[in-house]
Amino acid sequence: MEETGGLLNFVTNVTGDRFTRIEEDLGNGYVRLSITEAERRQAKNDIQSVEDAVLELLRNARDSGASKIFMSFQKEADQRRKISIIDDGCGIPKPAQERIFESRVTTKLDTVNFDQYGIHGRGMALFSIKQSADDIRILHSIEGKGTSLRFIADTTKLNEKVDQFEIPEIEIIDGKPEVTKGVRNVLRVITEFLINHPQLEIYMGIAGEILATMYTKSQSTVFESERSKNFGIACFNWERRNLKIWQLCGFASNAETLKEIANSFYGLELSNRHINRIMCGQIKTVSPLSINEIMRKKVGLTQGEKSVGKKKISISENLSKYFNDNDLQVLRESLNIIAEDIGNKYFLKLQRDPEIVREKNRLKILLPFEKDEII
Ligand SMILES: Nc1ncnc2c1ncn2[C@@H]1O[C@H](COP(=O)(O)OP(=O)(O)OP(=O)(O)O)[C@@H](O)[C@H]1O
Ligand SMILES: [Mg+2]
Repeated sequence: MEETGGLLNFVTNVTGDRFTRIEEDLGNGYVRLSITEAERRQAKNDIQSVEDAVLELLRNARDSGASKIFMSFQKEADQRRKISIIDDGCGIPKPAQERIFESRVTTKLDTVNFDQYGIHGRGMALFSIKQSADDIRILHSIEGKGTSLRFIADTTKLNEKVDQFEIPEIEIIDGKPEVTKGVRNVLRVITEFLINHPQLEIYMGIAGEILATMYTKSQSTVFESERSKNFGIACFNWERRNLKIWQLCGFASNAETLKEIANSFYGLELSNRHINRIMCGQIKTVSPLSINEIMRKKVGLTQGEKSVGKKKISISENLSKYFNDNDLQVLRESLNIIAEDIGNKYFLKLQRDPEIVREKNRLKILLPFEKDEII
């Protein structure tokens, strides 16, 4: 033991401690940490839930120097949770894109760090997520242009909070916002993250909303002459332009190209109809999450509580809150199709999308029709 220690000390003195900390130099700043170094950096928890995975993906995007993070959060009918995260950070060189899912692979050899969640820089988070994910992969990443990653989890195997719709309660304590109540769902994880990183723009929504947001926001950065005609996205030289991956969708001039970009670059699978509606500006875009807005929404939701004297009595039931936004969107789309079919019989068409309003124990649906002039 004495001898090994002596040799190790000798090597450390000659080479600095770099030699003892890394097992393999993978190039481009990527290393595989030695087991002892990784153990030294051991963190408390591995990935136990979808929320844990989301937090690690956010930490990685932050560490990459991103200022914008787009997150699409979608539940499939088969209980699979599909998450795409697109950031505008430093990107990952091609040869490292597979290796970062191996254990102890990191670029944070000299920047091992503490944040409010503990130590990071072990090169273990993506490896751990991969063990519990149905699929996780880099869809696209270019140095200096950001990264797009898709994560799919089977929620019958990897837990997630049932109530993803609940908004966390925030109080201002000593002048700083703090989450004081609420289930630890994805929105709460992001809210806590945002409180500590208010400089980040984090956009969260279902697939259609995120694509609509990136598409709309990127319109101003793409010249008309640069838009794809019918050649498919492979023909563009967009990488030469000083644009980020999320702005690529702005190049699409037709639905087919936008669909191709959404699918292969961002992992956002949308129907032709959805894509067309995005291009016509009919799908709502989302704003970056803001702590003030989250607080306002929470207050709005609890307005149903009546004060009697000092005692608060909540209105007996509010069942409609259990319908989450994804399900309402599914309902809206089905109504659209049914209303179109029935309307055709009377030469009528929907004026706009069906409106669905949550009202305590009911969903109020409004289907505004107008004459179909084309017919
Ligand atoms: N969004 C991203 N943008 C750029 N590089 C990334 C991104 N996500 C991961 N990486 C790279 O992949 C490496 C491995 O990530 P991983 O989360 O597994 O480990 P880590 O962040 O180094 O440490 P920890 O296990 O504590 O999270 C990172 O060190 C980083 O170089
Ligand atoms: Mg990490």
